[in-house]
Amino acid sequence: AFESRVFSGVQPTGNLHLGNYLGAIKRFAGLQETHNCIYCVVDMHAITVWQDPADLQAAIREVASAYIAAGIDPKSSVIFNQSQVSGHAELAWVFNCVARMGWLNRMTQFKEKAGKNRENVSTGLFVYPNLMAADILLYKATHVPVGEDQKQHLELTRDIAAKFNNDYGERISALGLGDADGYFPLTEPVISGPATRVMSLRDGTKKMSKSDPSDLARINLTDDADTIAKKIRKAKTDTEPLPGEEDGLKERPDAANLVGIYAALAETTAADVLKTHAGAQFSTFKPELADLAVSKLAPIADEMRRLKADPGYIEGVLADGADRADAIARPVLQGVKDIVGF
Ligand code: ADP
Ligand code: NA
Repeated sequence: AFESRVFSGVQPTGNLHLGNYLGAIKRFAGLQETHNCIYCVVDMHAITVWQDPADLQAAIREVASAYIAAGIDPKSSVIFNQSQVSGHAELAWVFNCVARMGWLNRMTQFKEKAGKNRENVSTGLFVYPNLMAADILLYKATHVPVGEDQKQHLELTRDIAAKFNNDYGERISALGLGDADGYFPLTEPVISGPATRVMSLRDGTKKMSKSDPSDLARINLTDDADTIAKKIRKAKTDTEPLPGEEDGLKERPDAANLVGIYAALAETTAADVLKTHAGAQFSTFKPELADLAVSKLAPIADEMRRLKADPGYIEGVLADGADRADAIARPVLQGVKDIVGF
């Protein structure tokens, strides 16, 4: 069996928000206790849409500092920047030749991001999921913690691994590479617990995202205490009290979202939050949620500010991380080259 290893990444595209934290970064930190973890700042994904170079550099440091501020220990986990390990680009090319057009044509995130502009988006945006598969499989990662929006891309990663294992099956055995499953593992997504899909605070039917047009709708990781509290106070809700059970939230996306955020921050379940808050009005639930959010998020923002004032430290972490990532990636990539016939 493959050695258990965790890999995930976040794009340096500005405005890290509560969804990125609860859906991804917070859970990255938790997995360190039990797994070998590799956490990447995926700058090559970021340039699938235009990025101002100076802004990109600042955003790379911002994501790295968010990782550390959220509790990822750069000594035990590997924190690095994707473009600094050339194996990502090399393996992505091989996967461009493994993945099928039909597979990529089905990716809903591409359809959403390209919209009506299909003829005019970068070709990188289209093959982005192949690069994501390369990010993961370059380390033979077995587990990938992500938000729900990445589920389809993880399925594609498994399809690519399975096709590679199958297409080159004889060669893989002849060279004595890989194990009974093949050269690459069939990576599992880790999408569990509350808040794997944090919704906009102004519209519970839309995902909270970096590109959310209304700033009030998005709690940024760098927001100060007053701003966090204000955004929660202004969050859209209905006029009903909280139900005692999750079934009662089915047709209430805004209420369900706030309960999920509360549960994730308190490290409990939505069912548990409802048990203790059944019958509460939002006029009492929101201030409680605001206090909880401030107590959990404000220290992260403070630590990010502190780290930002010490760019040499972040540069050092990323340089050390790139060396350690490259050392793991190199033999995996050499195996691929031998298998393919390069
Ligand atoms: P974004 O989607 O905000 O542009 P990324 O694509 O870099 O950011 O995603 C980084 C991580 O954050 C991914 O694991 C993604 O699934 C997660 N994520 C993004 N938005 C949300 C959200 N609203 N709720 C939960 N997780 C999210
Ligand atoms: Na995303």
